[in-house]
Amino acid sequence: MKYQTFENGDKMPALGLGTWKSEKGDVYKAVRSAIEIGYRHIDCAPIYGNEQEIGDAINDAIKAREVSREELWITSKLWNNAHGKSQVKPALQATLSDLQLDYLDLYLIHWPVAIKDDLLFPAKAEDLIGLQTIPISETWEGMTKVKKSGLAKHIGVSNFSLKKLKDLVADSGEKPEVNQIEMHPYLQQPEMLAFCKNEGINLTAYSPLGSSDRPNDIKKAKEPSLFENPALNNIALAKNCNVAQVLLAWAVNRGTSVIPKSINPMHQQQNFLSTHYNFNELQQLVLDNLDKNYRFIDGSFWTPEGSPYTMENLWDEK
Ligand SMILES: NC(=O)c1ccc[n+]([C@@H]2O[C@H](COP(=O)([O-])OP(=O)(O)OC[C@H]3O[C@@H](n4cnc5c(N)ncnc54)[C@H](OP(=O)(O)O)[C@@H]3O)[C@@H](O)[C@H]2O)c1
Repeated sequence: MKYQTFENGDKMPALGLGTWKSEKGDVYKAVRSAIEIGYRHIDCAPIYGNEQEIGDAINDAIKAREVSREELWITSKLWNNAHGKSQVKPALQATLSDLQLDYLDLYLIHWPVAIKDDLLFPAKAEDLIGLQTIPISETWEGMTKVKKSGLAKHIGVSNFSLKKLKDLVADSGEKPEVNQIEMHPYLQQPEMLAFCKNEGINLTAYSPLGSSDRPNDIKKAKEPSLFENPALNNIALAKNCNVAQVLLAWAVNRGTSVIPKSINPMHQQQNFLSTHYNFNELQQLVLDNLDKNYRFIDGSFWTPEGSPYTMENLWDEK
């Protein structure tokens, strides 16, 4: 396994298991089989609605002596309804209680977006709270406190644009250790990669396979397919592997970690073995040329008319 290293020497396995859309009733088996295959990194979030069952699986695996807590890297995320400074610790404690853990290895601000605290999702524009009202700096102060308390060993952000990440680095005494963002050959974000490398911020690539099991209401009409891309299929053929393995190897080879979701043990096994593959110069060039700055998860659900969030100010792109 390859790793990403943190300033204090802690190491996060470069390949982890994603758990969004892993339904209750499936996710227990998915986590147990992943641990059996050798996964030691699990990506969670309270909004996925399955942390209790993941907690059962982790704890049963520990009890069965398949793995120790220290060998596992567990990430979870602060949901948008708890961005107030004093809300961060109780939100983390609720996640720890569901996961039946004493600490997280990594806690992330899930989105740079705030919503009213009695909601899970906004139903209308008024349910969203602008960053002028609850600035990121305030949420970050809460995050640094939970790190100091030991409840989270490392802290970071997710879905932060390069501008928001730079602002946070410039404004705060403690910089985020991770930015978890969508990344795959159609959304390569080379400037983000270069900035994070320079600053010692670890990048995690989410939706590395194109997130095809998303609900239809957050899919666009004609999405490009990674699995059907001829260039990716040709590389897979040449390497005697499959397209998922090409996509995951691409992510790990450029120094990011990657968290494919799968509840299928055969896919989990394929994904776990993907980190061994390397590409020659020509294949690398072909992969580099696939970039189209295309987001599968574009965050448009935060931007109903009248929302303080727009596609422009969410991603800081025109
Ligand atoms: N921070 C954020 O805002 C954010 C946003 C999105 C995602 N994430 C994290 O990133 C994780 C991964 O992203 P994602 O769930 O959106 O999508 P993804 O990992 O890109 O794709 C998941 C889909 O790929 C399938 N799959 C997995 N391995 C495969 C293989 N070897 N061959 C063929 N199909 C395969 C899965 O089906 P099976 O289950 O049947 O294998 C599922 O349908 C999430 O689960 C979550 O933990 C974070």
